[in-house]
Amino acid sequence: MAFETILVETKGAVGIITLNRPKALNALNALLIREMNAALSTFDADKAVGCIILTGGDKAFAAGADIREMKDMTFRQVTEENFLEEWDHINTIRKPIIAAVSGYCLGGGFEFALAADILIAAETARFALPEVTLGVIPGGGGTQRLAHAIGKSKAMEMILSGRMIDASEAERLGVAARVVPSEKLLEEAISLAEKITNLSQPVITSAKRAVRAAFEMPLSEGLAFERKSIHALFALEDQKEGMAAFLEKRKPIFKGK
Ligand code: CAA
Repeated sequence: MAFETILVETKGAVGIITLNRPKALNALNALLIREMNAALSTFDADKAVGCIILTGGDKAFAAGADIREMKDMTFRQVTEENFLEEWDHINTIRKPIIAAVSGYCLGGGFEFALAADILIAAETARFALPEVTLGVIPGGGGTQRLAHAIGKSKAMEMILSGRMIDASEAERLGVAARVVPSEKLLEEAISLAEKITNLSQPVITSAKRAVRAAFEMPLSEGLAFERKSIHALFALEDQKEGMAAFLEKRKPIFKGK
């Protein structure tokens, strides 16, 4: 599949999507969202891929939704077309998604990074939801996901003021799982992805679904969901193999079933 706004490659079992509109700092226009969604779905359906990395350029992961494209939209248009609906597609992806973020990660760019499962930041990464400075609010999930990630007061401070934070503050707040030197960003993301892809894919899918349930369900339902999920894993050969390998002091050979 040929794309105009993203680059797509695989390294072993890791699928890599690189946002690629450098002149516009990877501003997220409709075409980029469509192409990213198609690439996400293709990797999700590909049995040879176990983990997906979403990354951008050195200067920008993405500087937000494309302001040029949005500027003249009318109320009627955004409601009739349900503007931003396509941004929800990332939530349907079953495989783990690692956002590897360098440079500006703003507005919609930050919202996609928050929608990923794990965020690794380069030392140069800068995060903000500056939508209020443009006369709108975050519309790609930022008000909800940032509040879940860092709590009400910090999220309010960032969203109501548009304040930008650096990589170390993002790590301290729990937005980033870790911060790595810029030149090692992709290498570190791939190394983490490889660790994940070497495990049992159905187990990883189950673990991702259970953690995400923590953000969707009340605690009692989430706990019940977790219990049902672990019970289901006892139907897998990989559970037998994982536990037998531990007791036999050898590495497990997972088959994904
Ligand atoms: N949309 C469209 N174009 C953008 C863009 C965006 N979000 N961000 C940057 N660009 C373009 C600029 O217009 C410029 O294009 P030209 O060369 O044709 O003028 C090019 O990218 C380079 O940008 P700058 O010259 O501004 O680069 P800089 O280094 O001086 O500044 C920046 C970098 C601080 C990131 C600045 O570009 C900036 O503030 N960008 C906008 C950030 C923003 O407000 N994002 C939120 C968007 S709204 C949103 O995302 C809504 C939502 O929730 C769905």
